Amino acid sequence: MTWPRLVAQSDCIVGMEVRPCSDRDLPRLQAEWPTPGTDIHRAHHSAQGTGVATYLIAWQGTIPLGSAMIQWGGCVGANARRAHPDWIEINHVHVRPEHRDQAVGTRLIAAAEAFVASRGHRDVALGVSIENAAAARLYRRLGYEPTGVRDTSSYVWVDADGHRHDAHEEDELMVKHLGSSPGREIGWQR
Ligand SMILES: CC(C)(COP(=O)(O)OP(=O)(O)OC[C@H]1O[C@@H](n2cnc3c(N)ncnc32)[C@H](O)[C@@H]1OP(=O)(O)O)[C@@H](O)C(=O)NCCC(=O)NCCS
Repeated sequence: MTWPRLVAQSDCIVGMEVRPCSDRDLPRLQAEWPTPGTDIHRAHHSAQGTGVATYLIAWQGTIPLGSAMIQWGGCVGANARRAHPDWIEINHVHVRPEHRDQAVGTRLIAAAEAFVASRGHRDVALGVSIENAAAARLYRRLGYEPTGVRDTSSYVWVDADGHRHDAHEEDELMVKHLGSSPGREIGWQR
């Protein structure tokens, strides 16, 4: 499969590039960014292979910096889907701790928005934990508005020592209406 290639230019991380995780990228991603317990990269890459999602990775050369998913099937939370059946959701936004505060998250979201706009969608949503003030602040800065729609999610995560944890969080849906331009700092390359 060939993908349009997105190059995001960053003030801080020279040569940062955001692109969907290719078959070729997957082994390097798994090697450079291990996820103990569960092979998250393979799961997300497989979801992408079915067409339900796009798994975006930010790279600096061969180093993966962070990731985000676009859910083409719409919002994941039941309340969010009911309230806004046509919105596309960006989720699993994650920047590796050592690369935070260098605009990687900003660039991942800009790249995701460009993909969403390129398929003709205009309303893009993000669910953010009501306890994650830092992420909510970033999303507000990027133009996302709280909707008051909340969903509860439960998941298992495995720490660096291999211990499993049950987590429950309440997420609030935030939304942004994209204009006709997908983003001023994103360039498309074939
Ligand atoms: C939330 C998260 C994705 C943000 O990623 P990030 O790469 O640090 O995001 P950015 O660097 O684009 O923006 C973060 C902050 O850095 C600031 N920043 C952006 N570019 C910057 C730059 N060039 N120099 C210095 N600071 C910068 C932003 O203004 C923002 O400031 P704020 O904290 O006051 O809002 C990241 O912290 C993360 O992965 N957290 C754990 C998982 C998580 O919570 N995911 C969100 C689920 S909803």
